[in-house]
Amino acid sequence: GSNILSVDQFDIDSIQTIFAIADRMQPYARRQKRTKVLDGAILGNLFFEPSTRTRVSFGTAFNLLGGEVRETTGMESSALAKGESLYDTARVLSSYSDVIAMRHPKSGAVAEFAEGSRVPVINGGDGANEHPTQALLDLYTIKKELAYHGHGVDGMHICMMGDLKFGRTVHSLSRLLAMYKDIRFTLISPRELAMPDSVLDVLAKAGHRVTITDQVSGSSDADIVYQTRIQQERFTTPQEADLYRGKFRLNSEIYTKHYKPNTVIMHPLPRDSRAEANELDNDLNQNPNLAIFRQADNGVLIRMALFALTLGVAEQVEKYECDVNW
Ligand code: CP
Repeated sequence: GSNILSVDQFDIDSIQTIFAIADRMQPYARRQKRTKVLDGAILGNLFFEPSTRTRVSFGTAFNLLGGEVRETTGMESSALAKGESLYDTARVLSSYSDVIAMRHPKSGAVAEFAEGSRVPVINGGDGANEHPTQALLDLYTIKKELAYHGHGVDGMHICMMGDLKFGRTVHSLSRLLAMYKDIRFTLISPRELAMPDSVLDVLAKAGHRVTITDQVSGSSDADIVYQTRIQQERFTTPQEADLYRGKFRLNSEIYTKHYKPNTVIMHPLPRDSRAEANELDNDLNQNPNLAIFRQADNGVLIRMALFALTLGVAEQVEKYECDVNW
């Protein structure tokens, strides 16, 4: 097995392989079947930045394959707080684990950690850089949602909105989508929070159509609207984030005005539910196009598939099935 650090290491074929394995994980995620294929294996789940979905779904995915999870959460509760290097931490923890999932506030920190690790390392988010497993679950969700409406990823139109500068999920997802054909991107953000040039270059090189705007607009032919949170933790001061919070909202009224009735609504979550932010309003909760919780559910399937591949057991999952006793 090898590290999963960036979406750049995938191509259309490897994405298809991951998604086919994710499809096979459904009965285990639904608790209709059990497998012990990773019996005896240990996941080191290291989260040096807050997380709900990524941390818990990595752990759940590993448990559902029969493995055990050891967790470290928060910089202050690890020896990094005493000045230990990422390299030393990796050398030590990789002898306690068979695979490591890691989140860190600094761009490139997970790759730095992987240098010292003797077991595969999976990036659960490194600063504003990348969140490759989120991009895979987002793309898996997009494929399923669009298939429901009778079309595929090639030729689709996606609006990405909010903090496109610091939002690592839109960086990874854009790079992944760039591998497909003729995608239209409408990038809606304050000018100061625009998509980085490094990502725009990838889209331009692949010949995709990109529209950049700082108006809360939309597009009546968008297939997907992907909303993001203002990433307050990446700003120099909280006051700076206040300048942008609440300005790029999506609610029922704005959705109905700017989008067609079956535009799929996505958000990596967490959505900031405070009144001054509220970038994705609860008044859309009953809208059948709201895919945010289907995204989160798909995270377990994708992470199960990635563990099965990384640990070389993808073909043995069914062979180690056992009884469900409860
Ligand atoms: N989408 C996502 O990364 O959520 P968490 O921060 O809760 O892991």
